[in-house]
Amino acid sequence: MPETMKAAVIEAYQQPMPTLKQVAIPTPRPNDVLVQIVAASINPIDLKTKDGGLRMLLKYDMPLIMGSDFSGVVTAIGESVSTYHVGDVVYGRVQKNRIGTFAEFIAVDQGDIALKPANMTFEEAASIPLVGLTSYQALHDIMAIRPGQKVLIQGGSGGIGSIAIQIAKHMGAYVATTTSADHFALVRALGADELIDYRTTDFSKVLADYDFVLDTRGGQTLADAFKIIRPGGQIVSIAGLPNARFGREYGVPLWKRWAFGVATRQLTKLEKQTGATYTFLFMKPSGAELETLRQLIEHGVIHAVIDRVVPFDQIESALTYSKSGQAAGKIILKMTTQFDQVGARE
Ligand SMILES: NC(=O)c1ccc[n+]([C@@H]2O[C@H](COP(=O)([O-])OP(=O)(O)OC[C@H]3O[C@@H](n4cnc5c(N)ncnc54)[C@H](OP(=O)(O)O)[C@@H]3O)[C@@H](O)[C@H]2O)c1
Repeated sequence: MPETMKAAVIEAYQQPMPTLKQVAIPTPRPNDVLVQIVAASINPIDLKTKDGGLRMLLKYDMPLIMGSDFSGVVTAIGESVSTYHVGDVVYGRVQKNRIGTFAEFIAVDQGDIALKPANMTFEEAASIPLVGLTSYQALHDIMAIRPGQKVLIQGGSGGIGSIAIQIAKHMGAYVATTTSADHFALVRALGADELIDYRTTDFSKVLADYDFVLDTRGGQTLADAFKIIRPGGQIVSIAGLPNARFGREYGVPLWKRWAFGVATRQLTKLEKQTGATYTFLFMKPSGAELETLRQLIEHGVIHAVIDRVVPFDQIESALTYSKSGQAAGKIILKMTTQFDQVGARE
């Protein structure tokens, strides 16, 4: 077993790009498994974290290894781990205070992982945890969509949108989505019923009386969602501002809650005017929900949508491409080809 591993590290916020370095392989805590990472996905939160954009919610000590989700093979287990064994093939989204999946190994709590879907490659499985959990928590846990209800999913060809469309259709929703016309074929294939090119059409002028909006944009796009929501409907945003209600549930100090309340005054006013609810979602890692997603994947409900797979050594070009906003679906970093023939545990 080697003692060091390659990892993508930043030394300070706003460093232009992470540096690939040799660092110590983490030691698993009693409840952890040590995973050799085969693939990891790039999410917008990686660049936001690097640039310090989330400091109000997440503050990191430096140096920091980037990366939030992964697929890989268990190579060691902590003394209290009974659910997993060495050799298990898993996928996961690590706790926000323990990120670091742009590396060859990660120590992760056994509660934050699940067995990899047997019908997915490592690259496909690595594309799922963060976006799959976020979509599931928005559509299932918060909205609890019932068949026939109408939902608008903003950015249907993105990492979130491409999975959210599939889950919403599985729940029986009528799905409208925004994307550029270049990606219409993709979102139609994923099951979207109504397609809107955000470059040419204002969604708030063509949609009305929606039960739900999953907002992935924030700003004016989020404010405009109130024009199409029915009274009693729900807008869930993953890109808007956290409000005081979120601050209370997230347990932030009183002064921050107050700051959140001030910053979201306009949204609170729109809630009152329309009778709709605004919820800011900050997704939570969950091995149990990854297990639910594994079953949905193995039943053919959810398919991975991958734009490209990039060798780990080329992380800089992968992050630059992610920043360009041109990807349809996910960008995957591939750490090793060593396990390409390995399947999931029966
Ligand atoms: N709060 C949380 O827990 C949480 C969790 C996950 C993600 N997020 C956030 O959610 C956002 C979306 O994440 P993602 O992974 O889906 O990003 P992504 O993969 O970069 O996707 C962006 C999508 O937005 C579309 N788009 C661009 N401009 C648009 C506009 N004006 N109106 C509507 N759609 C537009 C793009 O379509 P075209 O390519 O066709 O232009 C693309 O489909 C990010 O800000 C991310 O940080 C938050």
